[in-house]
Amino acid sequence: MTLTVAIPKGALYEESAARLRAAGIDMPEDPGRRLTVTTSDGTALLLLRPTDVPAYVEFGAADCGIVGADVLWEAEGGVCELADLGFGACRLVVAGRRSDRYHEGAPLPTFLRVATKFEKSAESFFAERDVPIQLIKLHGSVELSPLVGLADLIVDLVATGNTLREHDLVVVNEIATSTARFIVNPIRFRAKYAAITALLAKLDGEARA
Ligand code: PRP
Repeated sequence: MTLTVAIPKGALYEESAARLRAAGIDMPEDPGRRLTVTTSDGTALLLLRPTDVPAYVEFGAADCGIVGADVLWEAEGGVCELADLGFGACRLVVAGRRSDRYHEGAPLPTFLRVATKFEKSAESFFAERDVPIQLIKLHGSVELSPLVGLADLIVDLVATGNTLREHDLVVVNEIATSTARFIVNPIRFRAKYAAITALLAKLDGEARA
């Protein structure tokens, strides 16, 4: 039984492709601008923006997929997370300007503006600490916002830390660690149980190797 697998382009693509290749699926080295690829064993790969992977799996356009936990934290649910594949680790953090000294305990403004792509994660982090915020939703280049006075703090992903360093930003709080996850559509999981578990066993084996 053939599978349709949702693959995130971007930071998780290369390692996802490497693990799928090791699982016997001939992923292209560089898919270019192709949106879908059918491999020699009949597996259909959907090459998606990372934040779109959960929707394709939830509504059954893909049977299963690979996606960062950070994307799942913001998604609606409706998919089943089967495994932590262990790669693509990055941290979701609160960060601010070094000169504001929030990382050294300087008092936060009463009217705190927080810019982020991660609305749910940011809202719950500050709500759990009874800190009221005005959330400013951005879609990228979030590190710019404290530098130009749009926000006091950001909530964003840190991998190497280079982007923070280059903009003289520092981590104020760590929220969580994200890694790549293997997700399935729950109904497809029942219908294609053998094919999905066989693929996962190969991917998971690679992750733990
Ligand atoms: C992510 C994240 C940071 C950067 C962190 O951005 O939002 O900006 O990577 O990586 P680093 O710690 O290795 O520097 P992405 O590349 O997805 O682009 P975006 O900011 O436009 O969303």
